[in-house]
Amino acid sequence: MLAGKRILLIIGGGIAAYKTLSLIRLLKGAGVAVTPVLTRAGAEFVTPLSVAALAGEKVHTDLFDLTDEAEMGHIQLSRVADLVVVAPATADLLAKMAGGRADDLASTLLLATDTPVLVAPAMNVRMWEHPATQRNLAQVLADGVQVIGPDAGEMACGEFGPGRMAEPEAIFAAVVAALSDGPLKGRHVLVTSGPTHEPIDPVRYIANRSSGAQGTAIAAALRDLGADVTFVTGPASVPPPAGVRVVRVETARDMLAAVEAALPADAAVMAAAVADWRVANAGVQKMKKDSSGKAPALEFAENPDILATLSKGANRPALVVGFAAETENVVNHATAKRLRKGCDWIVANDVSPETGIMGGAENAIVLISPEGAEHWPRMGKDMVAKKLADRISEAIKNR
Ligand code: C5P
Repeated sequence: MLAGKRILLIIGGGIAAYKTLSLIRLLKGAGVAVTPVLTRAGAEFVTPLSVAALAGEKVHTDLFDLTDEAEMGHIQLSRVADLVVVAPATADLLAKMAGGRADDLASTLLLATDTPVLVAPAMNVRMWEHPATQRNLAQVLADGVQVIGPDAGEMACGEFGPGRMAEPEAIFAAVVAALSDGPLKGRHVLVTSGPTHEPIDPVRYIANRSSGAQGTAIAAALRDLGADVTFVTGPASVPPPAGVRVVRVETARDMLAAVEAALPADAAVMAAAVADWRVANAGVQKMKKDSSGKAPALEFAENPDILATLSKGANRPALVVGFAAETENVVNHATAKRLRKGCDWIVANDVSPETGIMGGAENAIVLISPEGAEHWPRMGKDMVAKKLADRISEAIKNR
């Protein structure tokens, strides 16, 4: 399945570069061609000779190598591969990617490429945890770059914590997933997830208990089928999946704007637990207790219904899937909701506290479609996601 594929492998300057040599062996063993690029700092850790010997190809190092420009320009080099892999991705390389810098061969290739990019960060734990690196990471994730690792553990510098590059086997597995020619390849799917936060004043908000686990699992399952996923998420407690375009929002109104900006899409899965109401008289300043002891009176305004707006809008995706979290009479309520909202399917579940579903690892759902109600047995949220992604893929195959 991987034979005939080509990776452009950028090796940055970190001690983990030695592990990249094992990655090259794994890739070559699977029939994947490797075009290696070594940064100046990378060449301090592994030699061009060992990289070239394992890859069986010339190592590219310099932006202004005249022979290279005569044989193959850097723009062309950036396009030869099915996937660009950066391992180790140093703090400096991540910063260059986040900022769109192009001051050496590696960063120029990363800016010029039109193929998917997978990065395996590796750096000192303090550098990884620094707000600047975390900002850069958030930016590259939002740009659709797939990130694997780093792992936590003892580091070459003697410190302990997250920063070790993912093991070559794990990076290899991520490469396999990224190169898969799944049935949703070329399809754009929009997923909303997580709760929304509706401000009461600058420091307080109204929220709900949604963890974002189910929406995250669905986005990952769709990605694994090859879809190009836009993941619009409220402030969830689980991190967004790698390899999807992440749009972070706070309020229902922000979420609607992000959903509309992401269109057109072939399918949409609205798994977010959107607040039905927002505080109409939210304070511009923090609300204060006053001496009268009177509690503030909050006034509420209805939020836009994102699912209904999308389902009835001009730019409607071919398949729109909504969710219904109910605490009683699940099938009847969800069936009525499907018609009221104008979506194609409703994934309904019972979120009464005794089910442990909200915030838990499992889900028991009923899929409501024009054909009726289909009860799925209780299973892990990852399995629900996989099954749903398969059904979505089947449903939009010919649309
Ligand atoms: O009406 P209810 O909140 O039960 O509907 C749930 C479904 O509608 C979910 O798919 C949710 O993402 C979506 N929804 C929405 N906008 C709202 C409220 C709910 O998109 N304001």
